[in-house]
Amino acid sequence: MCGIVGATSRTGAVLEGMIEGLRVLEYRGYDSCGVAVADGERIEIRRKVGRLSELEKLLVDGALSNARIGVGHTRWATHGKPSDENAHPHSDGSGRLALVHNGIIENYLELRKELQAEGRVFTSETDTEVLSHLVGRELARGASLIDAVRAALRRVHGYYAIAVMANGANGGLVCARQGPPLVVATTADAAYLGSDVLALLPYTRDVVYLEDGDVAELAPGFARITDIHGAARERAVRRITWDAEQASKGGYPHFMLKEIHEQPDVLARTAFDRILSTSGDVSFEHGDWDDARLRALQRIQVVACGTALHAGYVARYLIEHLARIPVDLDFASEFRYRDPRLVEHTMALAVSQSGETADTLAALRLARELGAWPVSVCNVMGSTVVRESQATILTHAGPEIGVASTKAFTAQVVAVFLLAVRLGRARGVLSVEQGRRLLDELRCLRPRMEALLAPHSVERVGEVARGHLDAKGFFFLGRGVNFPIALEGALKLKEISYVHAEGYAAGEMKHGPIALISKGMPIVVVNSPGAVADKVRSNLHEVKARGGHVICVGSDRESFELADEVIEVPQTIEPLSAVLNVIPLQLFAYHHALARGCDIDKPRNLAKSVTVE
Ligand code: G6P
Repeated sequence: MCGIVGATSRTGAVLEGMIEGLRVLEYRGYDSCGVAVADGERIEIRRKVGRLSELEKLLVDGALSNARIGVGHTRWATHGKPSDENAHPHSDGSGRLALVHNGIIENYLELRKELQAEGRVFTSETDTEVLSHLVGRELARGASLIDAVRAALRRVHGYYAIAVMANGANGGLVCARQGPPLVVATTADAAYLGSDVLALLPYTRDVVYLEDGDVAELAPGFARITDIHGAARERAVRRITWDAEQASKGGYPHFMLKEIHEQPDVLARTAFDRILSTSGDVSFEHGDWDDARLRALQRIQVVACGTALHAGYVARYLIEHLARIPVDLDFASEFRYRDPRLVEHTMALAVSQSGETADTLAALRLARELGAWPVSVCNVMGSTVVRESQATILTHAGPEIGVASTKAFTAQVVAVFLLAVRLGRARGVLSVEQGRRLLDELRCLRPRMEALLAPHSVERVGEVARGHLDAKGFFFLGRGVNFPIALEGALKLKEISYVHAEGYAAGEMKHGPIALISKGMPIVVVNSPGAVADKVRSNLHEVKARGGHVICVGSDRESFELADEVIEVPQTIEPLSAVLNVIPLQLFAYHHALARGCDIDKPRNLAKSVTVE
């Protein structure tokens, strides 16, 4: 949720680099931010509600520019509204330490009472402040920083990634993880930490992902990892193969637009190396994908949140259709609390871009406890979801920065298509020939995606999107594999342009929502040739008869004749139509939001990665 950075250097100043680090992490949360640095004996904290640009105004005096140790934070509020007082870093009033935190301390009220009873004064509404007081209390008793942090963490229940700095003889820089991600790295003269590897890439490509229960002590050129009792822990150094340039805008005005345009490459990276043309099959790298195991499966339980759940809906359609395995699907946040029952030989399939979404992770863990085989579709190697899965299909979408997910979704849909083919082949539902045909069609998507992203096609979508700026609400309708695409189109629009948009199964409209249709209301109907195309056409008639203004997206020509406006999509087989149809819907949301003057890459109230429940 929140973004964390920290640095300690023997030779150079750290503030500027930390600000740059926060800039790349702003997607994780951006309602307030702050930094703390130590210059000699003094720890200076500057923090501000609002974006990073507000914090930068507090730093123009240059007073902190030479500091060699610091921590920084960009916040997405959970406990306590966004305000200067609730912004991180927090201290304990001693001027000796500063602490930043991502996560939730569940027993903070009880700890707060205990600390207040000792005369400690709290100045914020956050749960985080108890951590700074717990650490401060130990420091005051003469403990070293690392011992103080370990002692504090032994008292708390909850999820956290924290970074703490302290000055004086027992000072230093320490960080710890229990839940939300944290990465550390050292160079000859410095050490760095960040809640996302993106913040470390300007310094090095060799990083260490902390695991749950790790506490790391950092000094220039040095990192030591222990558990919260002080026992040493060994963690492998991982080399990051993509570079910071890949995570920058590359000439596009927004990350979202850049990421939409990357989709043909994402398709190639996620799919093409895995296709086995001769056997009409697919090979995956991580885990045991043997035929025998796949043949034994009785059921698949998908758990995911947000956009990733929509990819899960596509998975249900594809797997049931191509591999004939029953698929259940749940919001991860519902699955974990509905006392679920799983049959024997269930695959629990977590779909997640970040691999750190708290609800998805908890649902996967629960399914594993209930005996399921934990499998994931995930974009981040080394993420918690991946580490806790026994098999993973990595989506090679590359870093996704725009809060509204686009390329990661397409990659997920491609990944679950590959999974459906693999399952279908392993279980003998698909012949070699059928497998080949499906995979050949997948290869053909790349030029079709490129056509959708050609300037005239993008402009056409922009024209339609700008034509409905006065609309009070939108419906997005689809059926079959394009029902989740309707859901995703509506979600994209509400996420970034704050317009009410409802995604619905087209056949269900007449059971209630059709009452909302008034003259001229824009209704986006997603329809491509296939088993349900004529059904969708009937639904299109129904909404048109109530005065709806129909915008048809897809490749069903007969629907075009009934529509008020058309966004044509190149044709493909029905199971793959979702991959193409979603692209104009992403562009629709983008252009609508742009024309409304919204902050596209950082929509209000949202965070890219939700690591709290
Ligand atoms: C947040 C993001 C969504 C995303 C969801 C699940 O809500 O704003 O775009 O779909 O989390 O994230 P995940 O990383 O698990 O795919």
